[in-house]
Amino acid sequence: MRNFVFNSPTRILFGKGQVENVGKETLAVAGKVLLLHSGGSVKQTGLYDRITARLRENGVGFTELSGVKPNPDIDIVRQGVSICRNEVLPMVLAVGGGSVLDTAKAISAGVFYEGDPWDFFDKKAQPASALPVGVVLTLSATGSEANGNTVISNSQTKEKRPIYSPFLYPCFSILDPELTFTVPPDQTAYGAADILSHVYEQYFHHEKETSIQDGFCETLMRSVIENAPIAIERPSDYSARSALMWASTLALNGLIGAGAVGDWASHMIEHELSAHYGIAHGAGLAVVFPSWMTQVYKANPARFRRFAEKVWDVDTRGMTDEKAALAGISAVRDFYRDRLKIGVTMKDYAIDGTKIETMADSAMKFRAIGSFVQLTRDDIVAIYKRAM
Ligand code: NZQ
Ligand code: ZN
Repeated sequence: MRNFVFNSPTRILFGKGQVENVGKETLAVAGKVLLLHSGGSVKQTGLYDRITARLRENGVGFTELSGVKPNPDIDIVRQGVSICRNEVLPMVLAVGGGSVLDTAKAISAGVFYEGDPWDFFDKKAQPASALPVGVVLTLSATGSEANGNTVISNSQTKEKRPIYSPFLYPCFSILDPELTFTVPPDQTAYGAADILSHVYEQYFHHEKETSIQDGFCETLMRSVIENAPIAIERPSDYSARSALMWASTLALNGLIGAGAVGDWASHMIEHELSAHYGIAHGAGLAVVFPSWMTQVYKANPARFRRFAEKVWDVDTRGMTDEKAALAGISAVRDFYRDRLKIGVTMKDYAIDGTKIETMADSAMKFRAIGSFVQLTRDDIVAIYKRAM
């Protein structure tokens, strides 16, 4: 196990009814906020009314910015920065899924930066400070609720880029699983695929002596595999929704990856699909990951054998490591298609192969990607082609 620093500064309020604490929690940080949301589901579900009532009760002033879309664009970040500056708002309150949270984080850092906030994502600048961000999460998926990442798209340049900064951890996150009862089956499934993918990215490494992290990873994956189909079938199943919500947070708050180097190539490969075709992040990952696994398993077939056995309950008796690895990869694909009922090929999302070369170049724009296996450009092209 490698040396590591683990710092998880986000205060988590988890469980039924925790959303009622939003006014109190916000007031403890600031007396007025930028209230950021999509303007869509949050209004339809009545959550908007509940939140604004709690803010008013606690005397918290708010200016609103709505209209955050999935795969959020840098334009709305720029708008948010202007509002925070003009109205001297000392905090952002994000109510929504990963797209709203990521937008809030980018705004919070952009306020302290003189230039265009896209510079962060184009690796021309790094956040030097940020406003505090409070979160009310409505979708279990990204882990943005307790990490320092934000992923923003640029519709002009057709790019989607992630950044990490220690300034970007939310100060608090309200994780109330009942708020996810209204998430439709497809978004529930995409969220589950995203959570699983975050675990895969950190599970496939060559580090020795990571038994604690391996156990965390396997428990998280098994829990998502068990609970996602239940949540799809019975959207108001509290037990399934709470397992998914806690898995979302733990899969990407730094805990399970401590002491090893994660891979993250599949995320970079997926971001290109979202940037060029606008598909949901989790949908793209369900397409990319089985293909990535098939491309790289030979680098450590024993690790993939363990994955097949411990996560997917594949009976590998009598199989070589390679055969066991391939059986595990098939189980991943079957689960997405048959249990989550989502696409597993680019064709399932009407994506043809015409942009594969462009996407491969863009995925490697800043550096070579992959750590379990460092991918060549040809490897990336092969992964897209296999995913067609
Ligand atoms: O837009 P509205 O109408 O609110 O509907 C949303 C949206 O259409 C809907 N939704 C959310 N909560 C709901 C709900 N519908 C009904 N009831 C609710 N309670 O779900 C749709 C998707 O929302 P979005 O926020 O886009 O989904 P998600 O949470 O999966 O976030 C995806 C974004 O996060 C990035 C992704 O790349 C993508 O841009 N990621 C962020 C990461 C991070 N910050 O650490 C890591 C991830 O790997 C990922 O890259
Ligand atoms: Zn992800």
